[in-house]
Amino acid sequence: MKKRMLFIAGNWKMNKTSSEAEKFLVDLKSKLAPFCGKLNLAVCPAFTALETSTRILHGSNIGVGSQDISAKDSGAFTGEVSAKMLLDIGVRYAIVGHSERRQYHAESDAYVNSKAKKALSSGLIPIVCIGETLQEREAGKTSNVITTQVKGSLAGLTDDEMLKTVIAYEPVWAIGTGKTATPAQAQEVHALIRKLLTEAYGEAVAEKVIIQYGGSVKADNSQELMSQKDIDGALVGGASLEVEGFYNLVANAIK
Ligand code: PGA
Repeated sequence: MKKRMLFIAGNWKMNKTSSEAEKFLVDLKSKLAPFCGKLNLAVCPAFTALETSTRILHGSNIGVGSQDISAKDSGAFTGEVSAKMLLDIGVRYAIVGHSERRQYHAESDAYVNSKAKKALSSGLIPIVCIGETLQEREAGKTSNVITTQVKGSLAGLTDDEMLKTVIAYEPVWAIGTGKTATPAQAQEVHALIRKLLTEAYGEAVAEKVIIQYGGSVKADNSQELMSQKDIDGALVGGASLEVEGFYNLVANAIK
């Protein structure tokens, strides 16, 4: 039995309109209802579908997260969405530093850190993403890259803030490629992340932090991945877009 409750979140990326989300979530909500109390669940739709999603999922066991958040409070930041705006419509989580944002929008660890801090100080739970590229892994740099990202993205968080933060380890080479890290490869990095947290915050805090795995998680590999000692859930892209597949993924994860 795991010490930490599993947390599985679907990252829809740029998929599903608000009306598509509505139909999908009505289905998903009833399908996943039996898992209430057995694990934590969330979906992270695009900004335009967030309000519909919080309305449909209100009172259910599925939380709603955004895929990004502004590091600023308000003002002249065209295109940005603030924590206050998200909280106002019932959003609970915010993904920050996803590799697609790091890659296509040049988000640095320092910038990701400021978004994580903004989420925390506003009352949102950040899901902070880290992960190495294929090139970095093949060059034997995985540990160094992960260490730098953990230290940079989580810099200055208090014990209390760290306890509220979710980390998602997503090797970039496994995202959307169908290539999953083997459970052993994933566990090795998760153990490193927990060791870094132990060094910075002590064991009592580190043992409570939820570290999700992400990258081609599907119904047929979720059980083996989730049974690893330091893997506490999943951030799921492609496989969270179909009700049946996501249901099977969750059902297998808690077996
Ligand atoms: P994937 O995406 O499950 O489609 O690989 C995961 C993610 O990017 O969060």
